[in-house]
Amino acid sequence: MSSFQIRPLSHPLRGQFFSPADKSVTHRAIIISAVAKGKTTIKNFAVNDDCLTTIDALRRLGVEITISKSRLIVLGFGLRSLKMPPKAISAGNSGTTMRLLLGVLSGQNFPVTLVADESLSKRPMRRALEPLRKMGAKINATCEVRHAAYEEYPPITIQGGNLKPITYKMPLASAQVKSAVLLASLYCKGITKITEKIKTRDHTERMLKLFGADIKIKGDTISINGNKELVSPSYINIPGDISSAGFFIVAASIIAGCRLVIKDVGLNPTRIGIIRVLKRMDADIKLRAQSSELKAHEPVGDIIVKSSGLKGIKVGRREIPSLIDELPILMVAACCAKGTTLFEGAEELRVKETDRINSMMQNLRKMGADIRVKQLKSKSNIIIRGAKRLVGTKVSSFGDHRTAMSMIIAGLRATGPTIIDEVDCINKSFPDFLKVLRGLR
Ligand code: S3P
Repeated sequence: MSSFQIRPLSHPLRGQFFSPADKSVTHRAIIISAVAKGKTTIKNFAVNDDCLTTIDALRRLGVEITISKSRLIVLGFGLRSLKMPPKAISAGNSGTTMRLLLGVLSGQNFPVTLVADESLSKRPMRRALEPLRKMGAKINATCEVRHAAYEEYPPITIQGGNLKPITYKMPLASAQVKSAVLLASLYCKGITKITEKIKTRDHTERMLKLFGADIKIKGDTISINGNKELVSPSYINIPGDISSAGFFIVAASIIAGCRLVIKDVGLNPTRIGIIRVLKRMDADIKLRAQSSELKAHEPVGDIIVKSSGLKGIKVGRREIPSLIDELPILMVAACCAKGTTLFEGAEELRVKETDRINSMMQNLRKMGADIRVKQLKSKSNIIIRGAKRLVGTKVSSFGDHRTAMSMIIAGLRATGPTIIDEVDCINKSFPDFLKVLRGLR
């Protein structure tokens, strides 16, 4: 695995670029097209390791998927058209692939084993398995007691079949779990209801509507009437990824003299917590909404960001799901802000590709930042006293793409060079990250 050395910026970042296509939306577009009826052309899909894993998994389930230039063509033959694979299917490092596929596999009449790489094999799956079992799926997973709690991990063998609708109150805020239940509900005769205490990204709901699903959202409850075939809308456009854009939004905010325009970014309200938080921190960010065909299922627009002096703020626990993947880069922003920033209830960060609270805290502390974590039972509050100088040093990605990119941005603001190990993991979500950065320097 290669390491990467980043030097402090000698010139500010200026220019414009297109953020890569949204990873979350691409996963959903591929999976839902695969079980709908008709041919779907997915324009501007996300080409990264995670989405390629989803494509590979669905091909192994008998779905014909072709890649031509920047388009993906998926031939779907209906909800129950998947075929039993000859051997186990790998979800690689992708939690979204695994949890969303579990939803679709709950409705198939054959057993499938899903395996994962070392990191995903340590991530909790019980959260998705419990509701699917309630719906009638038969599931065996690897059980372990870790940190005094019973948990379930990949490999997972799932045998779907006759599912029944459930009324499910989400015990935790997870779009992947919600999506697994929504996808399984397509196979149920009757109405499945899901209630969220805190709203999570709603890409699955929007995509299912686009495919003609009978889905209604009232307040915090989603109702879906299943057992109805989905119909391909023929074309789907994938918006740019706000999570990938986030690294550059923060870079431009914390480095003097920067001005960036990031084009065609998905501005779904359930995803733009980073914009709301940075604006409260006094970032200079403007959104230019677009009225293009992209808008059909997801709001899209350009983001114009200029450098500004940031100030510390409190980020409440209800805001966390709308910026969960942006917390590492927001931790970098907080280190550069004047005053104290508190991220309340950030514990979900511990069960991502790495324990991102630990990985970011270790790295930023090595660079001289003042970060503490207050652990109240299972709740983690992150407290950062900002405006200290970041000093370039050797840090680690811990094999986690978002940690790697966050530390590269921190390195731009540091004094002296910063060396980040194992940066190949960036390919998981944003393979062109370094190329875009070079183009703006
Ligand atoms: C995702 C949901 C979030 C997020 C992940 C992608 C999705 O995970 O962290 O990167 O595409 O639904 P959780 O559902 O575990 O919060």
